[in-house]
Amino acid sequence: MSDRPIRITVDGEALTGIAGQSVAGVLLAAGRISWRTTRSGAPRGVFCGIGACFDCLLTVNDVPDVRACRRPAADGDEIRTQSREENT
Ligand code: FES
Repeated sequence: MSDRPIRITVDGEALTGIAGQSVAGVLLAAGRISWRTTRSGAPRGVFCGIGACFDCLLTVNDVPDVRACRRPAADGDEIRTQSREENT
């Protein structure tokens, strides 16, 4: 794995990561353990970590419902967290 740094924004906040990390990896490394809520308000972030549970959804470069655990983070990605209401 390269040590090349990357920079993404999450809800307008700049975060740095390393090329090859998933979006979830960058978020977790930044101390974020949840970034979405269910309709009941329960926090969600990474649960399975392998793309099976869909708990880690967020919007990447205006594409909604991207699984953070499966999407490699790319330099310049603009990410928005999303709530359950956006999907219904
Ligand atoms: S954590 Fe389960 S799909 Fe991403």
